[in-house]
Amino acid sequence: MSLERRFEELDRRHAEAELGGGEDRIRRQHKAGKKTARERVELLVDAGSFTELDKFVVHQCHDFGMEEQRVLGDGVVTGSGKIHGRPVFVFAQDFTVVGGSLSEAYARKICKIMDLAMKTGVPVIGLNDSGGARIQEGVVSLAGYADIFLRNTLASGVVPQISAIMGPCAGGAVYSPAITDFVFMVKGSSYMFVTGPDVIRAVTREEVSAEDLGGATTHGSRSGVAHVSADSEEECLALIRELMTFLPQSNMEDPPLRPTLDPIDRRDESLRNVVPDQPNKPYDIKDIIRPVLDDHYFFEVQPDFAPNIVIGFGRLGGRPVGVVANQPAHLAGCLDINASLKGARFVRFCDCFNIPLLTFVDVPGFLPGTAQEFGGIIKHGAKLLYAYCEATVPKLTVITRKAYGGAYDVMSSKHIRGDANYAYPTAEIAVMGPEGAVNILYRRDIEQAGGNGAELRAEKIREYREKFANPYVAAERGYLDEVIDPRDTRVRLVAALELLRTKRDSNPPKKHGNIPL
Ligand code: HXC
Repeated sequence: MSLERRFEELDRRHAEAELGGGEDRIRRQHKAGKKTARERVELLVDAGSFTELDKFVVHQCHDFGMEEQRVLGDGVVTGSGKIHGRPVFVFAQDFTVVGGSLSEAYARKICKIMDLAMKTGVPVIGLNDSGGARIQEGVVSLAGYADIFLRNTLASGVVPQISAIMGPCAGGAVYSPAITDFVFMVKGSSYMFVTGPDVIRAVTREEVSAEDLGGATTHGSRSGVAHVSADSEEECLALIRELMTFLPQSNMEDPPLRPTLDPIDRRDESLRNVVPDQPNKPYDIKDIIRPVLDDHYFFEVQPDFAPNIVIGFGRLGGRPVGVVANQPAHLAGCLDINASLKGARFVRFCDCFNIPLLTFVDVPGFLPGTAQEFGGIIKHGAKLLYAYCEATVPKLTVITRKAYGGAYDVMSSKHIRGDANYAYPTAEIAVMGPEGAVNILYRRDIEQAGGNGAELRAEKIREYREKFANPYVAAERGYLDEVIDPRDTRVRLVAALELLRTKRDSNPPKKHGNIPL
């Protein structure tokens, strides 16, 4: 073969690989409102930064006529690129090739970039769009999934792993994204379930559509499986790029600084008026979170799941922080099962990747009710407690109003290694709220007072509120480092974070702890 022919052959193979399943299937993919794997990668990484690997890999299956269906690349595009100038490894499943189904060769391609990511300390982003295990390959395909699950698990806490669901993701295939740190979904065109609508109809006779069962809205609000739900593929990929700006490349690095023009000594008068006078009046905790952060910018995660706790990322003086906050505007900010799970996983993520935690506390306690107790609020609430206890990153805490009972301990209190613990003058730190406390302490007296019972009760509540429903008892003991003027929240937090930059703390050596799962 002449030299020229050899170069032509190389160009031909590149062109063939880049066409994936062919023009017809690409058209079908576009008609379904979806982009191809390569189009998605182009949108995800910095322009011109993608280097593809294993472009000419083909499957080795000879059953069911598969030898006739060999497509270069075999249904998954893998390689490395950059996001805001920092490297990432990417795999993008190509639905135009045998429905994006996973073969042995395809799994090997994914494993190869995961192994490289682990060796180099670089995040992995997976764009999922697949019919699941390639049926023609049988158990070999299942083995391929298991190889990926193992790598997902070993990489957990070492490099950030992000999944985007941009089409079907069903059966055991959902467990790879589920092990990763963040799951993004696209509304209307992606779904995730272990057993689909047909199996459910056959087994339980329930009628449910794929969208209702496992669409972005369901997983973003009911199950909590999805962390971010986007309106379009473009938005989904742009949000992944945005999330990456808060994350380090691996657990060996600190998260990246982003200098800001927002002054670190900016006082915010509005913060004096956010917490209402009346202790039971709701307010939006995000009216405190945003003004405190650089440029008022808060990247919220899981906004529609367990909205009684708010989680997300922001920056203080250019340094990324993970924010966890009770939300008095929902369920009065009570901790329930879902809020505990949401908070605990986020706290652990931040701790894995050296992202300091900023906690805002306004919590009347754990949500009462048989549904909560039967559902295991004890073990689920314990997860949040455990996560905060084991976290060794800098922990900043601001109690804005209520910090009652066990929830006071849980929410990054001084006792579980809070580093900078502040409270507003509106804080109420006690075993329980004044009404509950008086009902227990003075029940007999109130009963005996007969007609004057209500008056006595009101007086005792007033007395209790004055004595205990304030931050000063805790401040006297050093459980709070300081009671601060809300206007100064940002100034104080930026300074505390700066001081804690060199914080080093560790847990006793062990194989791993036994978080109450
Ligand atoms: C082989 C598959 C396939 C699969 C789809 N295709 N899924 N080929 N193995 N798993 C092929 C189809 O035969 C079709 O080929 C092409 O991909 C496009 O599929 P369509 O059905 O035409 O597309 P659509 O109508 O959009 O439906 C998509 C789908 C459906 C909902 C994903 O294809 C589907 O239900 N597939 C099977 C899903 C499944 O049961 N997978 C196994 C799950 S168990 P042609 O040539 O006809 O166009 C699993 C276990 C993982 O994954 C275990 C990990 C432990």
